[in-house]
Amino acid sequence: MSLYDFLVILHVFSAILGLGPGFVMIYIVTTAKDMRELKHAYQIRNRVHHFVMIGGTLLLITGLGMALIRPYLFTEMWYMVSLVLYLIALVGAPIFLSPRSKPIKQMLAEVEDGEIPENYDALAKELFFYERITNMIFLVIILLMVTKPF
Ligand code: HEM
Ligand code: HEM
Repeated sequence: MSLYDFLVILHVFSAILGLGPGFVMIYIVTTAKDMRELKHAYQIRNRVHHFVMIGGTLLLITGLGMALIRPYLFTEMWYMVSLVLYLIALVGAPIFLSPRSKPIKQMLAEVEDGEIPENYDALAKELFFYERITNMIFLVIILLMVTKPF
């Protein structure tokens, strides 16, 4: 097996095992019925995000590694568009996602166990809106990766 083949395998494993769980991060927290469950759900969600960050980093490293071995990839549109979309999604995390997850994290730290405060729904809705955009960007990248249309 060539180094390139090895990178492809590592890349696809990182995509499925590492990035895949990122698509269920919203789903994990939507069944919580009280603060205790919500806190636990967000703990699980954070652990999943760690997983996704490792998978996502490996995706980028292996993706760039493949193009170092086969530099013509840098002239392929599907490759460059994927790379740019990926970097946009990554740069978007601290700009769009973090400021919207901050008030939720604060609520989880301050509110005692019991009823979930009413304003949680509005905060979550806003965060999840931007999170779905992130998810869609990653779906587009997967489509570009598999079909390599241009
Ligand atoms: C479907 C995939 C992903 C989703 C749904 C997602 C979701 C989020 C959310 C909600 C936040 C806000 C902070 C938080 O709640 O802890 C965040 C922040 C962040 N994410 Fe992701 N993420 C995804 C993929 C990735 C990947 C692949 C990486 C890295 C390779 C990454 C790196 C980061 C970083 C560095 C932050 C900023 C942390 C901070 O400002 O403290 N994320 N992400
Ligand atoms: C959301 C992030 C990504 C996912 C889920 C993903 C997933 C995949 C998958 C499933 C394949 C195999 C497709 C096939 O050949 O049939 C693939 C191929 C490839 N990916 Fe990615 N990828 C991602 C990001 C990236 C990035 C950021 C780069 C570049 C820096 C990259 C570079 C490549 C290359 C060069 C191949 C072609 C391998 C080959 O067939 O020779 N990927 N990707």
